[in-house]
Formats: sequence, C-alpha cells, structure tokens
Amino acid sequence: MDLESSKWRRPGKSHFFVIMAIFLIQHQLHVSVKYAEATKKVHIVYMGEKEHEDPAITKKLHYEMLSTLLGRYDLTDIPLQKFPGVVQVIPNGIHKLHTTRSWEFIGLNHHSPQNLLQQSNMGQGTIIGVIDSGVWPESKSFHDEGMGPVPSHWKGICQQGESFNSSNCNRKIIGARWFVKGFQDQIPFNTVEGREFMSPRDGVGHGSHTASTAAGNFVEKVSYKGLAAGLARGGAPLAHLAIYKVCWNIEDGGCADADLLKAFDKAIYDGVDILSVSIGNNIPLFSYVDLRNSIAIGSFHATLNGIPVVCSAGNDGPISQTVQNTAPWLITVAASTIDRTFPTAIILGNNNTLWGQSITTGQHNHGFASLTYSERIPKNPMVDSAKDCQPGSLNASLAAGKIILCLSESNTQDMFSASTSVFEAGGVGLVFAQFHHDGTDLCKVPCVKVDYEVGTQIVSYIRKARSPTAKLSFPKTVVGKKVSPRLASFSSRGPSSISPEVLKPDIAAPGVDILAAYRPANRDQDDSYEFLSGTSMACPHVTGIVALIKSLHPNWSPAAIRSALVTSASQTATDGMKIFEEGSTRKEADPFDIGGGHVNPGKAVNPGLVYDVVTGDYIQFLCSMGCSRSSITSLTNATIKCKPKSNTRLDLNLPSITIPDLKTKVTVTRKVTNVGNVTSVYRAIVQAPFDISMRVEPETLSFNRTYKTLSFKVTFLSNHKYQGDYRFGSLTWTDGEHFVRSPISVRAMEAYAGV
Ligand SMILES: *[C@@H]1O[C@H](CO)[C@@H](O)[C@H](O)[C@H]1NC(C)=O
Ligand SMILES: *[C@@H]1O[C@H](CO)[C@@H](O)[C@H](O)[C@H]1NC(C)=O
Ligand SMILES: *[C@@H]1O[C@H](CO)[C@@H](O)[C@H](O)[C@H]1NC(C)=O
Ligand SMILES: *[C@@H]1O[C@H](CO)[C@@H](O)[C@H](O)[C@H]1NC(C)=O
Ligand SMILES: *[C@@H]1O[C@H](CO)[C@@H](O)[C@H](O)[C@H]1NC(C)=O
Ligand SMILES: *[C@@H]1O[C@H](CO)[C@@H](O)[C@H](O)[C@H]1NC(C)=O
Repeated sequence: MDLESSKWRRPGKSHFFVIMAIFLIQHQLHVSVKYAEATKKVHIVYMGEKEHEDPAITKKLHYEMLSTLLGRYDLTDIPLQKFPGVVQVIPNGIHKLHTTRSWEFIGLNHHSPQNLLQQSNMGQGTIIGVIDSGVWPESKSFHDEGMGPVPSHWKGICQQGESFNSSNCNRKIIGARWFVKGFQDQIPFNTVEGREFMSPRDGVGHGSHTASTAAGNFVEKVSYKGLAAGLARGGAPLAHLAIYKVCWNIEDGGCADADLLKAFDKAIYDGVDILSVSIGNNIPLFSYVDLRNSIAIGSFHATLNGIPVVCSAGNDGPISQTVQNTAPWLITVAASTIDRTFPTAIILGNNNTLWGQSITTGQHNHGFASLTYSERIPKNPMVDSAKDCQPGSLNASLAAGKIILCLSESNTQDMFSASTSVFEAGGVGLVFAQFHHDGTDLCKVPCVKVDYEVGTQIVSYIRKARSPTAKLSFPKTVVGKKVSPRLASFSSRGPSSISPEVLKPDIAAPGVDILAAYRPANRDQDDSYEFLSGTSMACPHVTGIVALIKSLHPNWSPAAIRSALVTSASQTATDGMKIFEEGSTRKEADPFDIGGGHVNPGKAVNPGLVYDVVTGDYIQFLCSMGCSRSSITSLTNATIKCKPKSNTRLDLNLPSITIPDLKTKVTVTRKVTNVGNVTSVYRAIVQAPFDISMRVEPETLSFNRTYKTLSFKVTFLSNHKYQGDYRFGSLTWTDGEHFVRSPISVRAMEAYAGV
C-alpha cells in the first residue's frame, strides 16, 4: 500500500509533545476583608510539539523555565504566556463521562471463518489506549490467557497506587497510569473510603466497561442475573490495553483538562496504536486550538503521530447541533440499538397481556397487586403533577403496596429516577411510559418500560376498572429477531455547532443496553458485569474495529481508517430495513444522526478507495476557521502559510460533503486514493439532494500503477431563492465490487442582493 500515510510518524518515535500542568500560587485579594487568601491553582502550560523525545531533557527544560519564573514575585498568566516556547496558559476545566451480543449483530461473529476478526487475528499485537476512569483489573475480561507478548514498541509503565501494583498488569493490561492533579485542583479530595482509589483502579465502572468493550478477552457464561447470557468479549479480544485514568468518582464525577492533556501526552509517548475517549464537554464548544478543548488538542497530536482517536458524540440528543468532539481529525461515534430485547409481560386484572421491556430482575411480587396512575396520587395536588413521578411527588399513603404507572412526555425524566420515587413511596412496581426505548434502566422496584400506545391502554384500563390490578412478569432475553438498528434518542445530533462543514457524528455503533465489565459493588468481588447505555458504549465498539483494521493495515493514516469506516457504513439493517430514529418511529436517520451510517466492519477493511488527509490540510482548515497563525503554529511547530482561498473548509478531504450555505453555486474538490487492485475503474453514482442539482467531474476515475490518487470536483447548484433546511443525498464511487459512499448534506440559503 502506498498511502500518503506511510509518511506518518510511528507513535513514540521521533516526536513528543509536551504539556506541563504545574501548581502556581495565585494571590486573590479579598479587599473587603483585608487579607490575602492564597489558593493553589493548576494552570496548563502548553508547549506545542517538541523535537525532544527524551522526557528527561524536556523535564529539565521545564525546571529551568520554572526556576526563572519563580524568581518573580507576581505569578499571573501573563508572564508565563510570554515565556519563549510557551504556547498557551489556561485555567483547568472539568469534563464529563458520556455515560455481547452487539458484535454478532454487526457481523463480527468469532465462529465465522473468514471475517475481519479472523483475518486480523483478533487485533493481536495492537495497543488500545483507553482514557477514562481506570480499570478493575481482576475482571475476567482482563485476563491474559491466549494473549501474545507485550509489543516491542511499548514504552509505558504500570504505575502503582492505592490497591494497585505491578502485578495488576499482565499481557492484556500492559500499562496503566493515573492523573489526578488537575481534578484535585478543581475539587480537592483525598482517598474516599472504598469509593475512589488513588491509582489506576476504577472508582466509577465506566472505564472498565469501555475497555472491556474495546478489547475484553473471552469470558464464558457472562450474564446480568440470567439476562443476556452468553460469551462476553471485546471487539479486538487479542489487542492489548493501556489504561489512562483521568476521571474520578468524586461529587458528580468528572475529568479535568490538565489530566486529559497529560494522558494524551503520555499515551503518545508510550506507543499506543489507537486511543478511545468516551468523554466530552457541553456546548458551546471551544475552538480546536483552545486548550479548554483538551480532547481536540490532545487528539491532534495523536493524529499527527498516526494514532486514530475514537470519541463519543455525546448524550444530548435528540436535539440538533448537540454533537461534541467535532474536530475533523476525530472519529466521532453515535449510539444505536441492537437486536436484543428483554420483553416483559404486564398482565392486567382483565386478563389482557401487554408487553414492555425490562432488565430489572429483582424481587418480584408474583401475584397481582393493585395498579394506579401516578397522576391520581400526587403528594401535593396544588403544586405539581405526579404524572412522570419526579422525586418526592407521590403520596406515600396512596402509593403503598401498588404498581404505579408513570408517564413521561419528555426525556428529562428517566426510569431509574421514577422507580426511586415509587420505591420511596412504598410502591411495589413501576410501568414507565416514554417515547423512546433506548436504555431499559435498572430500577429500585420491578419495572417495565412501555411506549405511549401500551401506556394509553393501561391508563384506559385504570380509568374503567373498579379496582385495577396488574402483575409484572420476569423479563426474557430474545436475540437475533430481524430487528433494524435504531438510532438512540439520547445520541447527540449534528450539524456541528462550531464547524458545520465537517459532518459529525461520523458513524453509528451499538450503544444501548451493552453488557460489559464494571467495578463490583464490593471491593472483595473480582467480577461484575452491568448494562450501560450511551455514546460512551458506542465509541469503544468502533475502537475495537479500528484495532482490527489497523492490525491488517498498520500504515493506514487515521484519516484513511475513518474514511474506510464512513464510506462502507450501512444504510440499512440486515433485513433491508432503513435505519430509523428511536422515538419518532417513521423518521429515517439522516447524516446528522448517523454520519455515514451503521458501522460495517467486514466492508471497512476493504474499502476500495479512501479519502486521506495530511497535516497540511488540517492546517488550512484551521486557517479557514479564522484561527491565528500563532495558535496554529503552536499545534504543529511548522511554518504556517495560510492560503487565501475561500472554500478551503469545504475542500477538506473528508469522506462526506456538507454545505451549510449554498447560495447559488459551489464547487468542492476531493481526492481519492486507491487501496484496492492497482488497476481499477470507478464510476460515480449520484443521488442529488432534493431540489439541488449536483454534477461530478470526471464521472469516471481510472487508477493504475502511475495514478493511485485522483481528484474530482462536485458542483452544486440551487435553483430556488429561499432559505431551506438541510437536504440529503450521496455520492458513491463503484468499480462493481466496492461501493464507496459519501453522505451529502446541503442547505440552500437565499442570496440577498449585495451579499
Ligand atoms: C520548532 O522546531 C524548530 C526546528 O524545526 C526548533 O528549533 C524549535 O525549537 C521548535 N520550537 C518549539 C517551540 O518546539
Ligand atoms: C501486589 O499486591 C498484592 C495484593 O496486595 C500482593 O499480594 C503482591 O505481593 C503485590 N505485588 C507486588 C509486586 O508488590
Ligand atoms: C382471567 O382468567 C382466569 C383464569 O383463566 C379466570 O379465572 C378469570 O375469571 C379471568 N378474569 C377475567 C376478568 O376475565
Ligand atoms: C395523602 O393522601 C391522603 C389520603 O387522600 C391524605 O389524607 C394525605 O393528606 C395525603 N398526604 C400528603 C402528604 O399530601
Ligand atoms: C481485486 O480483484 C479481484 C477480481 O476482481 C477481486 O476478487 C478482489 O477482491 C480485488 N481485491 C481488492 C483488494 O479489491
Ligand atoms: C495510467 O493511466 C494513464 C492515463 O490513463 C496512462 O497515460 C498511463 O500510461 C498509465 N500508466 C500505466 C503504468 O499503465
């Protein structure tokens, strides 16, 4: 393969970028009380990409710089910023975590002889870095049976700490580090008895879940109290894991910028091959050159070093423009449902049986109990409605001993919270009606989630019956029925609020009711498996797939891998059904929901053509975003020359085209590199967005030994003078065997006179 990517540097070889998080003493004068209060503050001092590989040399440089600085009596941000080599100094901020069957569902059955899983030897020899809340090393998912030796390019360590020492690393978890200074600066804490650990040990559970989803080893007979029973494994079961703990289970939990940046820095130096980051921050998003967008900056350096970074899109859907982690060098993942359901019967007193979904198998009252609608039993009828069972809204003397139906019209209430209200009011069961089915939460009492149709039937039974009763049955596990994936309602949606020309999310992957390793409730327990839902769970599915692709194509650049994923993604489920959005039963998912589509690993490994991106292209993109030359220089330490070209943002060589403001006519350029048979001829299939004309030139691309990369132009013409909404289409290059599909999104804008 002769991709431009072969020029990409190997991780941990020639470059090392340096970030220092240092403690500064800042004096805050509280003039009114006439004394000075000294507070310790972590500031991030960012030095950009450096030539030195040897950390000892860089450390020495930092000390030299610090000793110069500490000679001054007044330390504010300004003198540091002016110091040679210092690129940015910012205060440290806090990020949030985005909180087994799925592999078979996307075509990676480990029994099938010729799929990507077998071809890539299950990711053997690849190192996946997971930046998250740490790991529970005793979990069976992290045993190292069948694992190959630690790869020779690994330079990391197994950093010890509370309840964690070098014997907790093995050939599966080959390294672990923890970063807490930045977090402690925001929320000071010491060890919290049994809850958090000053070490790589997972105090949350989230990190163990994502790590085992990406690269968990084979574990027989995993289930959650009998549900979803089967063999558990990660996407790349023979890949190695390197753990970077940056998120802490303190107060609401979180992960600090300073710690995140340090983790990226170490991971690149240590020699990880892929990074998985299920962390985000809310809108409004920071610029890609602002250190408060630590994931964008850290991942830029990783990408420069040939390390693909896979991120979660966020859980703020279904609202438009909520997608996070939108930098064009990231692989941003949306969450979909899988073909596993947990049908649970609700038998009403009139012998009618209705069906919902549940994963709560707790203590069931197996007989009939009386049934009521929460709206009828508010604690304080004058103040608030008890309709969706908000905390404390139910009258306990009316709720005690009953099964309660709660109905939520929004996504601000969840089933767990409703079950807590029911439990606290002495209720014995919950039927929760909501518009979507993503994530059947665990509950404090036996609970079943239903849609509005079933909810309405139950309400009308309650209204008619003299003494309504019901019985909730035990959930069953049903898999493999022809069920289309749906996009989870919580999955954050595009377009990107900061760079709408870059289609985000890139791709969708399973992220609803995913069973994976967790931190056990009890310190003495080795193992625990839990169901979690979120784009956090979808991200490591793609990470695992990237590990498989990378072990087959070690020289492919992060952009080439992203292109392979996006252009091969499926638009339909195995049954030929369209991918719909959860909640709005008949709305087909569009590129702002699922990017290229649902991840299709079998096709992604042999994409035919790829849209590659080199560093210079990203630089021009940042120039066109209006980033200052000095701020861009800081990212790359290269001489920057911003080209004066109007639509460079549209011309970034992405595997998608998004035009947020088509006035009358615009032409965009792309280039594709042949990664299939040397001599091949591709022709364009165009599906123009409604009311927009679209022309591709040339319409045929002939590749041979000399012509491996070819450019083409796509011209869009809007015929109407109105301000419209986005319309969607596609461009597919095909040689008869490969279908290289790019999603296209265009919004026509009125061309006002003189504008
Ligand atoms: C940038 O690179 C040049 C050499 O290419 C080097 O001399 C200089 O020190 C570097 N600057 C920084 C801030 O790393
Ligand atoms: C690590 O900790 C375990 C359990 O506390 C202990 O048995 C073991 O000896 C320790 N190993 C090392 C290398 O310190
Ligand atoms: C429900 O079914 C049971 C047993 O089949 C029967 O005894 C009972 O009368 C039925 N109740 C109603 C309301 O139909
Ligand atoms: C709950 O309902 C009972 C019976 O209607 C009533 O007597 C009582 O005042 C209510 N309690 C509260 C806290 O509203
Ligand atoms: C090359 O062409 C052959 C014959 O058409 C086909 O079977 C094979 O899959 C192609 N290889 C690639 C990498 O596309
Ligand atoms: C590749 O194709 C070009 C244009 O079609 C042609 O001029 C050239 O000779 C071909 N090169 C080889 C090595 O076949």
